[in-house]
Amino acid sequence: MLNNKKSPPNPKQSKILSPKNGLDNFRLGFGMTSKCTRIYIRTFGCQMNVRDSEFVSGLLIDNGFRLSGSIEEADVILFNSCSVRKHAEDRLFSNITYLKKLKKKRPGLIIGLMGCTAQAYKGEAITRSPVIDIVCGTGNEADLPRLIKYARRKKLRIIATDKVDAKRPELYPEYREHEFKALVSIGEGCDNFCSYCIVPYVRGRERSRDAKDIIREVKSLAGRGFKEITLLGQNVNSYKTGGDRDFIKLLGAVNKIDGIERIRFMTSHPKDAHTELFIAMRDLQKVCEHLHLPLQAGSDRILKLMNRKYTAKKYLKLVESYKKILPSGSITTDVIVGFPSETDSDFKRTCDIMKDIGFDSAYTFKYSLRLKTASSKLTDDVSAKTKAERLDIIMKIQRGISEGRNMKLVSKSVEALVEDVNKKDVTLMSGRTRTNKQVIFKGDKSLVGTLVDVEVQSVTPYSLKGRMV
Ligand code: 5AD
Ligand code: SF4
Repeated sequence: MLNNKKSPPNPKQSKILSPKNGLDNFRLGFGMTSKCTRIYIRTFGCQMNVRDSEFVSGLLIDNGFRLSGSIEEADVILFNSCSVRKHAEDRLFSNITYLKKLKKKRPGLIIGLMGCTAQAYKGEAITRSPVIDIVCGTGNEADLPRLIKYARRKKLRIIATDKVDAKRPELYPEYREHEFKALVSIGEGCDNFCSYCIVPYVRGRERSRDAKDIIREVKSLAGRGFKEITLLGQNVNSYKTGGDRDFIKLLGAVNKIDGIERIRFMTSHPKDAHTELFIAMRDLQKVCEHLHLPLQAGSDRILKLMNRKYTAKKYLKLVESYKKILPSGSITTDVIVGFPSETDSDFKRTCDIMKDIGFDSAYTFKYSLRLKTASSKLTDDVSAKTKAERLDIIMKIQRGISEGRNMKLVSKSVEALVEDVNKKDVTLMSGRTRTNKQVIFKGDKSLVGTLVDVEVQSVTPYSLKGRMV
């Protein structure tokens, strides 16, 4: 179960466990209580990672650990990492290395790395940041309580990254970040191998969760007062449990669960999204009118190099059908600029298609080379300067479009699920519309978790502002 290929930099102070020297046989012995062990978890990256941190938190609490909100007080600091772009990874390692001083002050402090970067780097994570004690891969997270106890007791470094394709256990202790909205994983991994993307390598092959387990989880959430759930998968449209259009069937089943008022899902791959999905979104009353449909690029040549398996024309047709079926629905996207060999005219196609479609918002990224991926074999030949310029251009275009889309809502009433008190002004509340737009209005804390109607009075590219009606 453990990977021991790479040695850490100072063999005198650390050992790597191997299956032979016995982690699998390790059990909590008498007197090895973990009650006083405080764990601080810092999560980077996408909603998948947020859900993984919840899973791990539940397990740790169940095993007698305590969660801590303070990094200074923690006995164990866990970084749940994102590897999708180099920038995120660099930030992560500089955050970890920053803890060197803390570790000097408190030599018993354990630092663990979990998630995508742990899976991608394996033992090399320790070479890059020698303060790391535990490297726990994406499929090994169910073992974390044991890994932590072992690392603390035996004062060993542990690298456990061998279960990338493992299915998460179904019955595990519940821990949720919020009390009214929840992330529900419908599957793990990805088989699409978009040429730029590290996900298939760090999250393994696509495996769908049984529908009955998903339904059981949502029913239990509904019973505990949760109002909104987000069904999560790298590509929800390829959710498969042996039939046809299984994701639509799943949406239908979740829609029937009493107590749940809103259903969201992400992410949809354009090659697998279809008109029936949009019809289901229209007809299933609880399914929110928001589609996240990553475009990535507007040039067919680049889309082909990206191995996206659709053309700009097919994407446009899909969006046309979505808009026809859900005229007041929102649509958001992801776009990468500066993919290898992207020319000015390729980039212009991306700008043009974004203007044509008019997304409600877009996450825009500079291409970043990821090891192992197919595109890492292509020369990363678009200069950093050109990538930055293209990103600036596309963000500016999108800001204008987003503001225009939001303007259409002025004077209209929108339903918002109240999420939080505004960070800058406590008299303001922040919520989300069914179309996933942030809406800000006057109110108080007691509204958190409730659905309210807000009349939109003004907008920015990023949010709506209004008053409760
Ligand atoms: N470089 C830049 N952006 C990337 N993404 C994934 N891999 C890379 C990469 N190597 C972006 C894609 C994806 C989003 C989650 O991250 O747009 O949809
Ligand atoms: Fe990555 Fe493509 Fe899978 Fe999305 S669909 S996780 S971009 S490989």
